[in-house]
Amino acid sequence: KKVFLLLIRQMDKNEILKWLVECEEEKLESLWDLADSIRHSNVGNEVHLRGLVEISNYCARECNYCGLRKPNTKLERYRMSEDEIIACAHDTEKLGYGTIVLQSGEDYGIETQLFSNIIKRIKDETSLAVTLALGERSDEDLKVWYEAGADRYLLKFETSDKKLYDSIHPPLSGKKSDRIKILRKLRDIGYETGSGVMIGLPGQKIESIADDIEMFRELDLDMIGVGPYIPHPDTPLGVQCEKSDADAQSSVNKLLMTYKVIALTRIACPKANIPATTALATMNPLDGYEKGLMRGANVIMPNLTPVNYKSFYDIYPSAARSDLSGTDYHDNIKKRIISIGRTVGIGRGDSLRIRKVNY
Ligand code: 5AD
Repeated sequence: KKVFLLLIRQMDKNEILKWLVECEEEKLESLWDLADSIRHSNVGNEVHLRGLVEISNYCARECNYCGLRKPNTKLERYRMSEDEIIACAHDTEKLGYGTIVLQSGEDYGIETQLFSNIIKRIKDETSLAVTLALGERSDEDLKVWYEAGADRYLLKFETSDKKLYDSIHPPLSGKKSDRIKILRKLRDIGYETGSGVMIGLPGQKIESIADDIEMFRELDLDMIGVGPYIPHPDTPLGVQCEKSDADAQSSVNKLLMTYKVIALTRIACPKANIPATTALATMNPLDGYEKGLMRGANVIMPNLTPVNYKSFYDIYPSAARSDLSGTDYHDNIKKRIISIGRTVGIGRGDSLRIRKVNY
């Protein structure tokens, strides 16, 4: 079996492509089974929960797909205070989570030193691992926050198709965005590093999705998030999607394609932490989490943003967004994990890929 797994691990681009176009139910079942068994033998049965707190919806960027984009004047903006963030960290710990994820738009109002103090307070007052997802910040900011105690950083490269990426992700003050470079920097600094892509972007080719998976492997990532692209009506790309009638059909394909990419990512990167993403659960509220977890994923990131802010973090439309809150929501997710024969992760759920140094 070991030799078999080794061969699979070196799946080349053609094999990946073959899976990406596969439609036969029985063959797909064998893909899900393989991904699930590789998940089981590499990261076990635990599903790690990361408490996601969306600390600000201000954004300096103009990404064509995202509702937080600066030109979206319909959106009311908020930025949580230090005390509000600290209170969320205590709530996260009380729920038994091992990690807090602090996410925001690319908000330069999140000031380097002030934010550094927030990280330090979370590390002093709780035993949580701290993950940041704050966009393309400077090397200096990233270093200062690592030194303040941040453990992990998430920055999705969204698509490995450079032309497509540049077309949906305009530069900021003339400086071209190079997320791959930042990801390498994050690794150098010492962060556990996470990235990921969206599936189903208009103009995204199957070849570039195969490249995405190869890129995950090349970057040797600790965390890999894959979610469907969900059109937002107040964005240029969302408007473009509304005009095209291909969307109804494409949403089915998008979900299936997302599951395939999750499964192939598990096979390519056996030890990575792979979430069943919120975008996936948004497109398939019925059993998106379960299917993701049964096809390679081992993490869920429940939303713990305070209710008064939650509906303003409008990256993509989500009917469920404002209903989700605290304990009920948490209990429900726990039940869903247990219902598929998995267990709720205990502890921080650190990356198994690298040796952790404890300070
Ligand atoms: N659909 C799906 N995912 C989106 N993101 C942003 N906008 C959308 C959208 N419309 C994802 C991107 C980003 C993360 C914070 O949310 O992958 O990196």
